[in-house]
Amino acid sequence: MNIALIGYGKMGKAIHEIAKERGHEAVLIIDADNLHDLTPENIKKADVVIEFTSPHTAFKNVTFCLQQAVPVVCGSTGWLEKLDEAKAIAEAARTGLIVASNFSVGVNIFFEVNKRLAQLMAPQSNYEVTLKEIHHTAKKDAPSGTAISLAEQVLEQLGRKEKWVNEVSAHPGDLSIISERIDPAPGTHHVKYSSAIDDIEIIHTAHNRTGFALGAVLAAEFLKDKTGFFGMKEVLNL
Ligand SMILES: NC(=O)c1ccc[n+]([C@@H]2O[C@H](COP(=O)([O-])OP(=O)(O)OC[C@H]3O[C@@H](n4cnc5c(N)ncnc54)[C@H](O)[C@@H]3O)[C@@H](O)[C@H]2O)c1
Repeated sequence: MNIALIGYGKMGKAIHEIAKERGHEAVLIIDADNLHDLTPENIKKADVVIEFTSPHTAFKNVTFCLQQAVPVVCGSTGWLEKLDEAKAIAEAARTGLIVASNFSVGVNIFFEVNKRLAQLMAPQSNYEVTLKEIHHTAKKDAPSGTAISLAEQVLEQLGRKEKWVNEVSAHPGDLSIISERIDPAPGTHHVKYSSAIDDIEIIHTAHNRTGFALGAVLAAEFLKDKTGFFGMKEVLNL
């Protein structure tokens, strides 16, 4: 498969390595210093685009590729308020889009465990729930996209929580997400239910970026020749 990589930082490079190992070719690599190469003609050489840049650049890159009817796998976090607009562009261009806050197989299984745990804890109102995420200091957005996904899954099940907040809050309707920035952590997420009697905590710890990179390449393989919007749940058949 021919892939285009947009964003050639820590993730773009890790994805390139895995893509090569799986027999794919990067026919176009775009980073901040060669944006002029991101042309309709060049992008159409790719079967799928994999975009890992930043919260401020993702929407423009993603929609540009979709408008050329080239499917996109996007891992950039921090731009979800514009996701519906991107989905509409993908639909109009009859192409495919996968956006995931976290591409790792382990985290996507963790998401399913989180949903089930929240469902079990819904009637247990004596438990207070909090989320914590720990990432490296270069991370631009807080809370992490993964923590937001976890929080939204909890909010969907727990009627006693109204919204997430990125601070320690004493308001009973707030779901606190605590963000810590420590090097070199690639990403740890905790979901903790505490009562006076006991605690239940689930934790996912990424040891490196390989899991995210492999998941992004698996998503690109899944998306080739498909139209519509998908998540990792479909890619991994969870
Ligand atoms: N979804 C996931 O599984 C997952 C996992 C890790 C990181 N991320 C997210 O992916 C993004 C990238 O992470 P990273 O660790 O590779 O960051 P990074 O800072 O190492 O790399 C980002 C790269 O994008 C380039 N860039 C900036 N503006 C650009 C533009 N307009 N067009 C093309 N390239 C541009 C930068 O020069 C840099 O090389 C972040 O938003 C991060 O939160 C997602």
